[in-house]
Amino acid sequence: MPRIAYVNGRYLRYPNATLSIDDRGLQFGDSVYEVIAVRHDRFVELDDHLARLWRSLEALRMASPVSEPALRIVLREIKRRNHVQDGLLYLQITRGIAPRNHKFPDRTVRSTLIVTGAQRTSTDQLMALREGVTVVTLEDARWRHCDIKSTNLLPNVLAKQTAIDAGAREAWLVDEEGFITEGTSSTAWIVLENGHVVTRPLSTRILPGVTRLNLLAVLKQMQIECVERPFTVQEAEFAKEAFLTSANNPVTPVVTINGVVIGDGTPGQVTRLLQSAYQTGNGAS
Ligand code: PDD
Repeated sequence: MPRIAYVNGRYLRYPNATLSIDDRGLQFGDSVYEVIAVRHDRFVELDDHLARLWRSLEALRMASPVSEPALRIVLREIKRRNHVQDGLLYLQITRGIAPRNHKFPDRTVRSTLIVTGAQRTSTDQLMALREGVTVVTLEDARWRHCDIKSTNLLPNVLAKQTAIDAGAREAWLVDEEGFITEGTSSTAWIVLENGHVVTRPLSTRILPGVTRLNLLAVLKQMQIECVERPFTVQEAEFAKEAFLTSANNPVTPVVTINGVVIGDGTPGQVTRLLQSAYQTGNGAS
């Protein structure tokens, strides 16, 4: 019996059930999901799952591509077509397919809906129910590994959109102690009155930017003092200059932070110097 999946309005055999590589679920983890059990041919606690799904969608400012009654029909249909009497249904909704960009796509982009289902065949699960399972404790590090360039970018996407909604280009993220970690998709830098450049040291709280690494070498070469230490929001707002870096925005001047004008509100001297030094010093490799 072929397995059937629902993908954006169509019931398809698994080999044909494919999505665009530009889907935001893949690119950013910009998606929500539910897992619904079927026991004795009936959905278990379906209303509660749908209530949570709607809550998740609302929290992420995402729309379902179908109404709730229509979604119930899709779930029933996937259950029927896959002959699920005791098993699981999975559903995922992503923010849809759009060229990769952290900010939300425009409203014409329809969200993606996938529903799959399978009869439970796992003897492992049955064993677990009968005999119990073992557990270990671990630090709750969800998600404290910003040093890994993972596509788990939903918090970044949400922060970027908040910045854009506020009329800004980027958000600089702040840790529990009031220190800036980094941008949603860039490394954060400031220049002090004494001309020293400051950027946060590497840790699990920031991505080790490739541009950061190479700019540090440029700074050294140019004998410009660079201090790798955390800096606060206030320090950034009162910095002489500020800039951000990333592969797609090499040495980009920051001219206001939270509406506070940095320096005289134009790209600073050190920033411009680094801009040209970084560009000339970085041939393709
Ligand atoms: N972003 N920090 C974060 C969270 C980033 O996503 C990026 C890059 C950087 C800068 O790293 P690099 O200098 O290696 O580009 C820092 C890429 C460009 C993006 O997601 O589009």
